[in-house]
Amino acid sequence: MSEINWNRKDLISIKDLTVPEIQTILDIATSYKELIQRPIKKVPPLRGKTVALLFCEPSTRTRISFELSAKRLSADVISMSSDSSSLTKGESLIDTAKNLESLKIDLIVVRHKFAGAPELLSKKTKAAIINAGDGYHEHPTQALLDMFTIREKKGTLKGLNVTIVGDILHSRVARSNIWGLTKMGANVTVCAPPTMLPKGIENLGVNVSYNLKDAIKNADVINLLRIQFERDSGLLFPSVREYGRLFGLNDDVLKLASPETIIMHPGPINRGIELSSNVADGKQSVILDQVTNGLAVRMSVLYLLIGRGEVQ
Ligand code: CP
Repeated sequence: MSEINWNRKDLISIKDLTVPEIQTILDIATSYKELIQRPIKKVPPLRGKTVALLFCEPSTRTRISFELSAKRLSADVISMSSDSSSLTKGESLIDTAKNLESLKIDLIVVRHKFAGAPELLSKKTKAAIINAGDGYHEHPTQALLDMFTIREKKGTLKGLNVTIVGDILHSRVARSNIWGLTKMGANVTVCAPPTMLPKGIENLGVNVSYNLKDAIKNADVINLLRIQFERDSGLLFPSVREYGRLFGLNDDVLKLASPETIIMHPGPINRGIELSSNVADGKQSVILDQVTNGLAVRMSVLYLLIGRGEVQ
């Protein structure tokens, strides 16, 4: 394992991280990946620590993954959602976090619809904060688990061609992946209808394509993004059928890529829109590996933030 390069209280964005910090997270996650395959999966680094999950937007994967990661590291875990908390009575997010701090919570995992909410909390509380997705801004642990999965399957990130397809405009997953992958030396192409690409996206160091068939030809990795109907993504193209026809990945289109190309998706999947069920469940798909790897990566992040005692 490489030297531990970590001196941060919080994990808010991939944009903030250095290459050695990303390498440290991925290397420690490799050890945890081995651990979670064992019959006894629990280890003590977070014994005596308390982790709060504060999810103000829906989640399956991220929430369960953080809960399980914290429990595997022996933390106590409390779970809150906005609709069953006093946030519904008008309490501010900062007051909620201050109350958690008063209860001696060590770390708060936050998902919020407003970009910047986790960063605000990181400045207002002594507890460590992990951004579990904020608006259109970032979803750092998703990008870390994506990079971990690519590195695991391909042996490296440097020099790989990664094509990200779909609603880049609304996607915090895309932003975090672009920051991370370009830092780690991958060549990133984004592919979408023009309405789904933010203005100036090429300034982030990516190639831009409006044609799926062209964009996947030399791809080592194809990462398909969910159409975010709850954020009005459906208004950005004439019809779902049209989107699926031009940007959906099915067996016929996938034949244009190498058989070694891996297929990724952060989930949840809209089957038959971003990709066909055959592709989602096919032998090139690593979508469920991403979910398993999320556990190892989140254990790594929790360990680095609150699991190293005085070393911090
Ligand atoms: N990938 C992801 O963030 O999934 P959830 O919304 O289910 O957490």
